[in-house]
Amino acid sequence: MAVAVIGVGRMGHHHARIYSTLPQAKLVAVVDAQDARCREVAAKFHCQPCRDVNQLLAEHPDVQAVSVAVPTVHHVAAATPLRQRGIACLIEKPLAPNHDLARQLVELARRHGATLQVGHTERFNPAFRALAAGNLTPRYLETSRVSPMTFRSLDVGVVMDMMIHDLDLVLSLVRLPVAKVDAVGVAVLGKHEDVANARLTFENGCVANLSASRMAMQVQRMMRLYCEDAYAMVDFQTKSGRIIRGADHRVELKDIRRAVAAGEDLTQRDYKQMVKVQPLTIELPAGHDDALTAEISGFLQSVRDGVKPVVSGEAGAAAVDVAERIVASLQSHTWTGWDPATLVAGE
Ligand SMILES: NC(=O)c1ccc[n+]([C@@H]2O[C@H](COP(=O)([O-])OP(=O)(O)OC[C@H]3O[C@@H](n4cnc5c(N)ncnc54)[C@H](O)[C@@H]3O)[C@@H](O)[C@H]2O)c1
Repeated sequence: MAVAVIGVGRMGHHHARIYSTLPQAKLVAVVDAQDARCREVAAKFHCQPCRDVNQLLAEHPDVQAVSVAVPTVHHVAAATPLRQRGIACLIEKPLAPNHDLARQLVELARRHGATLQVGHTERFNPAFRALAAGNLTPRYLETSRVSPMTFRSLDVGVVMDMMIHDLDLVLSLVRLPVAKVDAVGVAVLGKHEDVANARLTFENGCVANLSASRMAMQVQRMMRLYCEDAYAMVDFQTKSGRIIRGADHRVELKDIRRAVAAGEDLTQRDYKQMVKVQPLTIELPAGHDDALTAEISGFLQSVRDGVKPVVSGEAGAAAVDVAERIVASLQSHTWTGWDPATLVAGE
């Protein structure tokens, strides 16, 4: 399958690298607004450098699938000519800078019938796949995604930049509309929030509490699920996880509940010895153990077989929609604590 990449900066370079190694793909061209960068990446992966999408389409009319990894504000402009030709697109996350533009891309996909996948790479993380395969029904979820400042993506806040990964994961697990959004955030370096916390309440009463920071001193990416009959946690970084199932503790629970009801002294019991913690069974398929390779391979398979991708345009638009609601909520959040200026003046 003839493929190309538009925008070969930090992320697009990885897309080009992976396409160049996959036997089912032939990377024919890369496109980048920066001529020197475009030539450098094209030379590295033995394909043609193109200055824009028009040149790509004129010189490679056979191209079937394209990754779009330009900055988010340019996603619609870069992808529209491809969508109009019915060319399948894997568009990096977030799908678009706002919900209206995201819907525009989804509508184009519907009209022209070509595959649209969104680059929510974490869905392909083997640890998340293991969690999702467990068919758990969460009542409460916690996510935490923090990292040190990279001074990238400062044109958007941490919600659109980082929290959107967890929003997509949470929406894919709960699969219900969000009824209520409460959020708080702090902007440290510019006008956009660098630290944020959001509490989402879903229509069935499930609650998700999401935290994100790009001003932390270490990297952490975690999810915890509290379900009716299980607790599970995933560490996206180490690709590991564990689960505690109520079903494994029926006898012990019955005994403890009886003892609590009878007012017995349980202080000498060792709680940690009672709990059966199981590791999540995580499969690392050969050659597909990194999430981006799995995402790109899945995209090519969807194009070839004409099936809906794992992360559809609708899913990408839904994540942008909730992210916008979170940003609106944190911007309208009022706070009447002490004012640092007053403190300095009072010294
Ligand atoms: N999936 C993930 O985990 C993940 C991680 C980081 C970034 N991203 C997303 O990837 C996208 C790109 O981010 P990045 O960090 O690689 O940015 P980047 O700035 O490193 O690279 C963007 C590249 O696009 C080029 N470009 C800009 N406008 C263009 C245009 N109109 N036509 C052709 N080329 C153009 C630039 O010259 C640059 O080389 C963003 O949407 C970002 O949100 C996703």
